[in-house]
Amino acid sequence: MRETGFNLNDPELLRTAAFIDGSWVPADDGASYLVTDPACGRTLAGVANCGANETLRAIDAASAALLGWRNTSAKERANSLRRWFELINASCEDLARLLTAEQGKPLAEARGEITYGASYIEWFAEESKRIYGDTIQPGSNNQRLIVLKEPVGVVACITPWNFPNAMLTRKIAPALAAGCTVVCKPAEATPLSAFALAELAQRAGIPRGVINMVTGDPAKIGGVLTRHAQVRKLSFTGSTRVGKQLLADCAGTVKRTSMELGGNAPFVVFEDADIDAAVAGALASKFRNAGQTCVCANRFLVQDSIYERFTSALVAAVNAMTLGRGDEAGVDIGPMINADAADKVIGLINHARTLGARVAAGGRRSKLGSTFVEPTVLTEVTSEMRVCREEIFGPVAPLQRFTTEGDAIALANDTRAGLAAYVYTRDMGRIWRVSDAMEYGIVGVNEGTISNEMAPFGGIKESGHGREGSRYGMDDYLEIKYLCMGGIES
Ligand code: SIN
Repeated sequence: MRETGFNLNDPELLRTAAFIDGSWVPADDGASYLVTDPACGRTLAGVANCGANETLRAIDAASAALLGWRNTSAKERANSLRRWFELINASCEDLARLLTAEQGKPLAEARGEITYGASYIEWFAEESKRIYGDTIQPGSNNQRLIVLKEPVGVVACITPWNFPNAMLTRKIAPALAAGCTVVCKPAEATPLSAFALAELAQRAGIPRGVINMVTGDPAKIGGVLTRHAQVRKLSFTGSTRVGKQLLADCAGTVKRTSMELGGNAPFVVFEDADIDAAVAGALASKFRNAGQTCVCANRFLVQDSIYERFTSALVAAVNAMTLGRGDEAGVDIGPMINADAADKVIGLINHARTLGARVAAGGRRSKLGSTFVEPTVLTEVTSEMRVCREEIFGPVAPLQRFTTEGDAIALANDTRAGLAAYVYTRDMGRIWRVSDAMEYGIVGVNEGTISNEMAPFGGIKESGHGREGSRYGMDDYLEIKYLCMGGIES
């Protein structure tokens, strides 16, 4: 089945088959599943519904391509990645349309994601030339001790639907830059953005087998990727629940893993904060992608003395936001990925209301359809409410009160998650005290937009391990080999 309703300048970017060993191939049994538009449920395309056998062939292809790819010079790999980056930028508008159609986010945000995703490719193209080893002072002059960096090998990349482009590029780019080959399993809901990336990678001259993509049954595909001995690493972005299962599945072959899992980000506003800046940061952090990001502010902790002032400024800003289809002009917030996701968010709002929270803005499912949730502000929220304890993954801002700095820190750290946290204050001493005390991998200080390719993205505690982006992001795809050379003096 081939859909033509996307109005792409380059219709060849719409791919619906799996990408294995440089070829576009249907599922072995010809089966496909339907990809739908979350805004209205219309069918966008039928996509190859692969399982174990196609995944095994993809791993074989990645294994066969490994030697050739790891033996290319860093400069050759950098040039290939650079060409891929340029082709993605040249196709930005088409890629954004595909992304909005299958994921729902507003077109402006989708364009932003394409640029954001491409930035990881540019960054790691450059970093590939900066993989350094070490020499170590030996205990005797008869020896030389040398540390080399080598690619991990075949890497499996399992990515989510909330950033169908950028979560893939920030795994594939460092993997390829390090000399690894990959087998990717994009989220079932958003395969079209992933396939378009593979199409452009092929045009960029990245050799066959270096990038493979299989879509379909997550249990069958994931089962092979996590248990196959040739796959030496799994990089996963998704929920903590699934991440724990994948970690257990990887234990049998002792794979390296990078886990970007769920968050429960506190957004702390102290009484000395610049309130306008805090509201702007809150909007950026909370309502990006309709609240469907792991680093979204999940709970707002606001000091008593400014609670009313911050609340009314935030409510005014939230009431000014426009909810609608991502492909309509002027829309700030699109739909949830599906009706179940919207049901869960509405359930969290209702639970908080039952325990005494007040709805200061929004609070309902929109008349636009079953996947649309109004941007919502809840006040008088307390820690026992599920909205504070669970990752909301929706456009809901719950506002809690605190009195002292110590209370704010205790509330902020009262979670098993540890991905991102945000702090708004103009007191330099407090900035350092609170940042030091935060049990999180990322702390935004007077800043709600924290993700970029130059910085290490990742969490601690049950939010996972490993870092993506930055110079640290390359380490996750490199092994250390130590050479101990003797007989130097003889
Ligand atoms: C995520 O939600 O997993 C990623 C968000 C980001 O890259 O900022």
